[in-house]
Amino acid sequence: MRTVYVGCVGLVAAALVGVACAQEKKSATVTITVPESGYKETIVTVDGVELKGTGATREFTAPNLEAGKEYTFKVEARIEPNNYTKITRPREITLKAGDAAKLDLTTEDKKLDKIVVRWVPTPVDIVDEMAKLAKIGKNDVVFDPGCGDAVMLIRPVKELGAKKGIGIDIDPKMVAAAKDKAKAEGVAEKIVITEGDILNEKDMAGAAEATVVLVYIGDDLGARMSPVLQKLLKPGARVVSHRFKLGDWKPDRTVTVKGADGDDYVLHLWTVKEKEKK
Ligand SMILES: C[S@@+](CC[C@H](N)C(=O)[O-])C[C@H]1O[C@@H](n2cnc3c(N)ncnc32)[C@H](O)[C@@H]1O
Repeated sequence: MRTVYVGCVGLVAAALVGVACAQEKKSATVTITVPESGYKETIVTVDGVELKGTGATREFTAPNLEAGKEYTFKVEARIEPNNYTKITRPREITLKAGDAAKLDLTTEDKKLDKIVVRWVPTPVDIVDEMAKLAKIGKNDVVFDPGCGDAVMLIRPVKELGAKKGIGIDIDPKMVAAAKDKAKAEGVAEKIVITEGDILNEKDMAGAAEATVVLVYIGDDLGARMSPVLQKLLKPGARVVSHRFKLGDWKPDRTVTVKGADGDDYVLHLWTVKEKEKK
């Protein structure tokens, strides 16, 4: 909590200001609206302390605020829309004694919010189905933003003779695992893995070289990455996403394939057209 003195209202005698203010202590309340994920309850903290409650709203009371002062609190929502995505949404709210404020934590702020998607590998047979949908051949350069252990690069290079695989991952442990795996599979010389963030256009440079993108990254991150991807990709490039769409970019085809494990897998295909370049 940060406090800023803003003066007492309605007092005439300057000499009495300090005394009068000190006596006027009141609470302030905030009704905080949060996203309901259906997977896990959203956790809300104020200055690091978790608020009690469940559902779409939480109530915060700041007790004993001195009249004439402003108090700034750090509020944070930790949202888990599914078992692989964690969104941290930090905000600040400034209160005065007697306030009954509202704070909406349901809307995204692209600059402030942090999204972390953990590694969940795509099964090998589904990678092969994605490669088939993208019609990967020996002239293709395949890019995977959020490559994990690089299965989506190793399979096309090893099994289909793709020219090159380029992967980035934000997690240095996954970068090391991907490099080790490419070496173990004997395709290290054709696969370039670097540590990078798919939300950083510079780190996404591999997209400009790619003729095919294979991706599995979740709705929230995918939507944020989509404009960068569309900007960098060449016309004619094919994008196949395992399960998730890429924001409001409408896929040209969506298919459901049966996995070796008996589960259904949804795959989306886009082919970059001249007019779609941003
Ligand atoms: C669901 S896994 C998919 C891995 C691989 N593409 C596959 O399908 O097997 C998502 C991967 O993206 C990485 N990742 C998450 N956020 C990222 C970001 N902002 N930039 C780059 N990689 C990220 C994670 O570390 C994880 O390895």
